[in-house]
Order: sequence, then structure tokens, then C-alpha cells
Amino acid sequence: MATAKMAPESLQPLLDRLDDARKRTDALFALIRSETLYERPIPERHRLIFYLGHLEAFDWNLIARDALHSPSFDAEYDKLFAFGIDPVDGQLPHDVPSDWPRIEQIRAYNQNLRERIDNALQAPPSKLPETVADGTLLHVAIEHRLMHAETLAYLMHGLPHDQKSAPTNYETAVQSKAPFTAERTAIPAGTATLGMQRESRHFGWDNEFEENQVTVPKFRIGAYPVTNGEFVEFLQAGGYENERLWSAEDWAWKNSAKISHPHFWEQNGRGWSYRGMFANVPLPLDWPSYVSHAEASTYARWRNGALPTEAQWHRAAFGTPAEIECAYPWGDVAPSAERGNFDFARWDPAPVNAYPAGQSAFGVHDLLGNGWEWTSTRFAPFPGFAAFPFYPGYSANFFDGKHFVMKGGSLSTAACMLRRSFRNWFQPHYPYVYAKFRMVEE
Ligand code: AVJ
Ligand code: FE
Repeated sequence: MATAKMAPESLQPLLDRLDDARKRTDALFALIRSETLYERPIPERHRLIFYLGHLEAFDWNLIARDALHSPSFDAEYDKLFAFGIDPVDGQLPHDVPSDWPRIEQIRAYNQNLRERIDNALQAPPSKLPETVADGTLLHVAIEHRLMHAETLAYLMHGLPHDQKSAPTNYETAVQSKAPFTAERTAIPAGTATLGMQRESRHFGWDNEFEENQVTVPKFRIGAYPVTNGEFVEFLQAGGYENERLWSAEDWAWKNSAKISHPHFWEQNGRGWSYRGMFANVPLPLDWPSYVSHAEASTYARWRNGALPTEAQWHRAAFGTPAEIECAYPWGDVAPSAERGNFDFARWDPAPVNAYPAGQSAFGVHDLLGNGWEWTSTRFAPFPGFAAFPFYPGYSANFFDGKHFVMKGGSLSTAACMLRRSFRNWFQPHYPYVYAKFRMVEE
């Protein structure tokens, strides 16, 4: 098995977490009107309606169909909702709303399969296959669903404001808590421990194994991620029109996609607005600048810097002057609300200096939450990688040299995925995710 784990005494804690995750995604769907579910806010991805079925079909295929060998009650939906799309440059899906089933039919499928899965999982662990009894498949179902809570959030972000309703606890502004400086922090040479040991018996996705050590020469890194205020300077200096700053691929993409400013910005007279989840606000200059990998690396080149490698990011985040690596930037205690903008606390970014309690031992701020951070490392397996036999394509389908590793987490990243070894990845020309960046100098 990919994960050698001891069977927990009871699956109940994981079943409770699955229940919480279902409530989380149900609540997200409740913010969108029914007709709007047939919209496609991001041209390269599925219509929202796909995700309504996908979250459940995924659990069914993984746990009931493939592990428990339960007979399918709707093999057509099991297949229709099985897989999403990895956006490829220039290739767009062309399905129409009427290609998709009606909401009531999907809801009936969802309710039916949740009941069947929940009933089947009441069996004593000794009667369940190993991957179910040891909790692995429940972890996969929970984290897959929570990752899609983030997908749903950024897809919904692209909808016009009148097509979604703000939850009652909605608030936009967060006050800065410390004076902000665009300073660089010196990180001494040392070791970065990437990945996780299989023997740890903790859950991790296939791409998080094996543990491996990287020796990192000294470098300097932004104490904060690059802010909107800093990115405005790039724009005003003509960065989007200066071909010499861009790689050939990035320049071609920017021109064909007609991109002349960050995706989350909107021109507002002579100034800029930030396109928030439920309302626009005048561009907050102390919020991190959400941009594609192409824009981030071009900006860094303009400032005579670069994006950090995955190992440099680890050093800045988890390294300490005592050369003991921490589980989180702030130490070893579990994430909580004062450490950063994550776990669905907000619907929009916060100032980069809003969470001083989240800083790392080297004084680097805003590493976990408030937007994933782009690295210059291409997504590839660690030595000792083995795909999950029950989900062979989760990572392996993306080891194509076209995806870059992202670290940290966003406002819509669940706390369980803020672990040190978690790796996210996207293509460099994907501007829709909550992704920020910071710069390094060798
Ligand atoms: C790991 C976030 C890149 O959204 O494409 C969800 C997660 N994989 N369903 C994605 C995923 C299959 C994946 N990312
Ligand atoms: Fe999925």
C-alpha cells in the first residue's frame, strides 16, 4: 500500500470531518442561484453544475464502487461527474447548459449516494477493506472535497456580484497591524526538508512522499509578499508592454489572452478597483497582488529578483536560526485564526502585514494563507514517489513540466492542508486562483 497505516479505533472522527466538509461545500452552493449553476465563470473549466455532481461522484467512485464494490445505482452519473478538466492553453470546452442534467436529478443522486456511503461505513472496521479501515480513503474524500471548496470559491469569484448572495457574516476590511516595509530578509545557508516520511503514518497525497533534504545556499527573500501597491509601479512603468522583460511563451500568452493588468483588478476611471467576491473596493495597496506565474516571474525580473524555489520557500517558512525545522512558520502549534487568512475566514485577501503572529522564525510574514505562493520549481515527483493505486492520476497526470509548485495556502484553503509537505500546482498562464508571490535575491 502507498500508505502503511494502523487502523484507527473508530472511523467516527473522520466521518464527522467528512460531514463538516459536506456542510462547507453545501453552504457554498447555497450562495449561488440555481440558473447560475449552469454558468461557466472560467472559460477553461467546467460549468459550476459539474462540481455539484463531481464532489459526490468522486466519493462514490473512490469508496463505494472501487473499494467496497457496491453496485452502481447510476453508472451514467458516476462517469459524467468523475473528472474535471486541466486547462490547456487555447483549448476550451464547448458543451452547452442543456448537455447537463437538471439540478433536482443531481441532488437526488447526491442524497442517495451519501446515504449509501454513510451506511456502508457503519460496518465494523474489521469488515472493511484496508484502505477504508485505515482512514486513507476518508482523508482523500475529505481533502478532495475541501480542495474543491477552494475551486468553487475562485470560480464563484468570477461571477457578476448580482448572481451570488453574500453570507451574513461577510466583511471586507481588515486593519493593518504593523508598519509595512518592503524589506528583504536574509536566510542563512541550511537544509530544507521537503516531503514527508511514509513511516510517519500521517495522511499525505502521493506527491508528498518521500521525505527529502535539500541544501540551500544563503539568499534574501521578501519579508512580505508583493503587494498591489508595488505591482501598480510595474504597470505604470509599462511592464505589460515591455517585451524584453517577458519570456517568449509568457509574452505570447499575455498578447493572445489580451492581458494588460492582474485578473482581479478592474479599471475604475483613472484608478483601479479590486474585484472582490461580493463587492468591488478601491484597490487595497497593502493586499497581496494576485497574479499568474507569468506575471509574477516577469515582475520579479523587472525588480532584478526571481521567484523562490520550493526549497528556498521551505527554508524561509520552516527554517530556524537553531537549524530545527518547524511544522508551521510560527512553530509547531496547530493553525488558528490569528496566524493567517486561511480556513475560509474571509472572502477576500487581507493586508500582507495583518497577521504578525504568523511570521516565521526568520521574520518572513504571510506565508500560510492569504493566497498560494508561486515558486520557480516545476511540479515533479520526489524520489520514492508512488502513485496511489486507487487514484493513479492525482499527481502523475501533471508531471508534464508544464505546472509549477505553489506553497502556503489561500483564504479558501482548509486548515488541514496547511501542513508543511502539502504541494499545490497550476500552469503558469492560469490567472484565476488566489495566488500571490514574493521575490528572492541570491
Ligand atoms: C491540486 C488543486 C491542482 O484543482 O486541479 C481536485 C485538485 N484534483 N480534483 C485541481 C484536484 C482533482 C487540483 N489541484
Ligand atoms: Fe476533483
